Amino acid sequence: MERSLVLIKPDAMERGLAGAIIGRLQGEGLNLVALRMLHMDRPLAERHYAVHREKPFYKDLVDYIISTPIVAAVLEGENAVERIRELMGATDPARAAAGTIRKDFGLDVQRNSTHASDSPENAEKETGLFFKENEIFD
Ligand code: RTP
Ligand code: MG
Repeated sequence: MERSLVLIKPDAMERGLAGAIIGRLQGEGLNLVALRMLHMDRPLAERHYAVHREKPFYKDLVDYIISTPIVAAVLEGENAVERIRELMGATDPARAAAGTIRKDFGLDVQRNSTHASDSPENAEKETGLFFKENEIFD
């Protein structure tokens, strides 16, 4: 069994889409094992997006992710990391395949509704930023 960290980003929060997005993932057979609503502070956002520190969009991205409360969730299932990235679609909603979460809900390349871990190793690291081990359930 594999876990992935999913964030419901500010654009989706503002449109009341957290339940719909998590419901879609559950509807695909992924198991919700942790859930939390929080307003990320800048240090947490900078740790979460540390891999993008050198990218031109880094500061905007950090400002964006701390602009409203968000929902963090851990979903578990076989091959969960890859399956969730497929269900979310390409980073830019305009390029995302039909039927994906970002195609259906995303607004633009930054306001793309969701974050999902891109490898099992990063999933473990990212999950640890948001949840204690005893906050994740079987
Ligand atoms: P995520 O990490 O959020 O699941 O998205 P991803 O892997 O598909 O995309 P990544 O390359 O990791 O980028 C992280 C987030 O940064 C924003 N972004 N903006 N302005 C831009 O060109 C640009 N490129 C990326 C997006 O919010 C993206 O999800
Ligand atoms: Mg990424």
